[in-house]
Amino acid sequence: MSRVYDALRRAEQAGVNLSATPAAGPVPAAPPLNGLLDLIQEVPYTPNPEAHMIDASRPEAAPAEEFRALRTRLNHMQSLQPIHSVIVTSTSPAEGKSFSAVNLALAQANISGNLTLLADFDFRRPIIHNMFQIERSPGITDYLLGKAPLHQVIRKISGTSLYVMPAGEAVLNPLELLNLREVKAMLIQLPSLFNWVILDSPPLLFAADANLLATLCHGTLLVVRIGATTIDSVTRAMQSLCQNNVLGIIVNGARRGELYSKYTYYHSYYYSYGNRSGDKPGGEPGEMQEQKRDQPPAAG
Ligand SMILES: Nc1ncnc2c1ncn2[C@@H]1O[C@H](COP(=O)(O)OP(=O)(O)O)[C@@H](O)[C@H]1O
Ligand SMILES: [Mg+2]
Repeated sequence: MSRVYDALRRAEQAGVNLSATPAAGPVPAAPPLNGLLDLIQEVPYTPNPEAHMIDASRPEAAPAEEFRALRTRLNHMQSLQPIHSVIVTSTSPAEGKSFSAVNLALAQANISGNLTLLADFDFRRPIIHNMFQIERSPGITDYLLGKAPLHQVIRKISGTSLYVMPAGEAVLNPLELLNLREVKAMLIQLPSLFNWVILDSPPLLFAADANLLATLCHGTLLVVRIGATTIDSVTRAMQSLCQNNVLGIIVNGARRGELYSKYTYYHSYYYSYGNRSGDKPGGEPGEMQEQKRDQPPAAG
């Protein structure tokens, strides 16, 4: 069963620190973004029917339930540590980073007053604008290039606590742009305004973008996709992320009950979201699970 266990066991053997190291510490003081929220344009919520986005009006339906469980775990962590910015990443393309980032953001924003910003930092293959059917530009790259002020690159989704920052105009040099000090300043400032800042990102093993961004976020969520993600790539990813407070692993595409025994349900530190039918929309998802970090994963 346990491709993820095996992968993480190996990562542990390789000396990767999976312990709950505090996040980047208290949010450093940054100039306040007074009045920014009032200037942001509102757009209607028009989810792309192809995008497999959760339906907040049917909280019991899968996969909404799984993302609510992930939300609960993260909000619990936030009550213990000052974690307000999270990057969602994975080793390779098409493992469900955008799917997970969007649905986690929707689940968070479904709590009234829980201001959540979803930011598309995958400048190489941005998709968030497409999922919400909003304009890609002006977006983050336009702000970083000085072509648009911050309030213009954020849209508020009407009737929710969700704000979306699309990627912006295509750029030839994403990594160079991410190295600008404005990125760091932005990721220090925004969590003072939004309770959650959730970043979508490119795959870890294909570009340095996500690793760089992970150093600027309070936590990292690693998505693995059953049947696609290899153990070696997870090991390499965990090694590269070891200093960046990996909060958990989202297991995408697992069958319900496939990963853990009943016993491990209460003691697993991985978050899992899965779908009985793999990629097929409408299939039932798997379970979301958490394990205390000081306990070894049970075999099973
Ligand atoms: N659990 C899932 N169930 C159904 N479709 C999924 C699931 N996870 C991902 N997908 C679909 O797989 C494709 C790739 O997912 P995506 O989130 O865009 O990957 P990534 O961002 O890692 O490249 C998308 O079409 C997405 O809707
Ligand atoms: Mg993506």
